[in-house]
Amino acid sequence: MTRHLLADDDLTPAEQAEVLDLAAELKSAPYDHKPLAGPVTVAMVFDKPTLRTQTSFSAGVAELGGHAMMIDGAMAGIGVRESVPDVARILGRQAGQIVWRTYAQSGVEEMAAHAGVPVINALTDEFHPCQLLADLLTIREHKGQLAGLRAVFLGDGACNMGNSWLLAGATAGMHVVISGPQGYEPEREIVDRAAAIAATTGGSVALESDPVVAVTAADVVITDTWVSMGKEDEAAIRLGDLAPYQLNAPLLEHAATDAIVMHCLPAYRGKEITAEVLDGPRSVIWDEAENRRHAQKAVMTWLQARR
Ligand code: NVA
Repeated sequence: MTRHLLADDDLTPAEQAEVLDLAAELKSAPYDHKPLAGPVTVAMVFDKPTLRTQTSFSAGVAELGGHAMMIDGAMAGIGVRESVPDVARILGRQAGQIVWRTYAQSGVEEMAAHAGVPVINALTDEFHPCQLLADLLTIREHKGQLAGLRAVFLGDGACNMGNSWLLAGATAGMHVVISGPQGYEPEREIVDRAAAIAATTGGSVALESDPVVAVTAADVVITDTWVSMGKEDEAAIRLGDLAPYQLNAPLLEHAATDAIVMHCLPAYRGKEITAEVLDGPRSVIWDEAENRRHAQKAVMTWLQARR
């Protein structure tokens, strides 16, 4: 059966570990593996802005011997000019894999149901699984392990990154803490879903509204923009509501002495994170950004073997 990566828990704990091992292997020899030789075309559609995702997928597809086909979401008008199932059938006849960044999670699910080829979620309002694989790869590189580490996500816990941290962190056996104000908590359904996974991996999930309590003894401290793509109209209120959750040096003092700092970018210095922390010695953000390519190459390689 064709496999997809639509949400972080599409990979079992064993599969996630397998993909991360593969990512490390591909990173160590970036030009030695050509599972997309042919070249296989990977169709990439972006309905929202992109820099890291577009560049890392394009470069990654090229390194795997494939062909990256860029499709402008506005021009394609998926769901407007043509229905998602019709677009899925068209792209599935032209491309070997489909990468889509869009708004609704139901969109990528519908695409996967009709494409007949692997579909990769390149960010929806709900999840960002490619980013999490890059994040986990980065943590493994810096910490040598995932299981048992305390990972604290600060800020908008209801955004795609908060949700993906819950599912992917739990899958990896980590202790995931989401810390944000009332009204910015992840949905109960996702917390419960992550808790069920954590029960099988030895990890845990928790919500903690006090940022100092949350960050205390953290091994990994993560934040993300307070104004996710599509939420621009709420910018003023969000900047006020989330201000107490800024990742700054005094807050980071409470973390483990060897804690690392992560941010999926783009970052807004002086808002969700200070420049001092983002550009400081604990920050691993540039490794994290580079690892998007290696992680996504692993995902494409893994999915290509399971069509
Ligand atoms: N939560 C952010 C992630 C950006 C990569 C957004 O959706 O805009």
